[in-house]
Amino acid sequence: MLVRVRVNGADREADTWPGSSLLSFLRDDLHLLGTKNACEQGECGSCSVWLDGEVVCACLVLAAQADGRNVRTIEALGDEASPGPVQRAFVDAGAVQCGFCTPGLIVAVTDLLQRERDPSDETIRETLAGNLCRCTGYQKILDAVHLAARRAGETSP
Ligand code: FES
Ligand code: FES
Repeated sequence: MLVRVRVNGADREADTWPGSSLLSFLRDDLHLLGTKNACEQGECGSCSVWLDGEVVCACLVLAAQADGRNVRTIEALGDEASPGPVQRAFVDAGAVQCGFCTPGLIVAVTDLLQRERDPSDETIRETLAGNLCRCTGYQKILDAVHLAARRAGETSP
């Protein structure tokens, strides 16, 4: 079936299997590989994207459900040559090890910092409860969120 989605501000379409998840559509059909596939069961958060402004697990959404809607992925936030502020904070705080969880975390943290300028540890932990990381032990992720929040506070009025 033909699915048309606005992805990171561009109209994209592809012929996909009717049972395809949004995650498969992004990765396999549109070749946007930043969104990671780890569990495919909604358990790990590595596939987090925005769908009409709300963070969802792309593995739990059918591509057909996203037809005609707006999707924003990690690719919208920066790249290796020009990382976004949350990406930079993760690197600077040493919160990236294998990196598999990182795109989903960056999406979730970016969404959080859009709503709260200076979230507490408790709020960060609650917000990121659905994002699993097997490497870092989470403290460096908390450090990265605080670093990104502090830098945003220094540059905004
Ligand atoms: S791959 Fe979607 S939540 Fe794990
Ligand atoms: S850095 Fe490896 S799973 Fe998080």
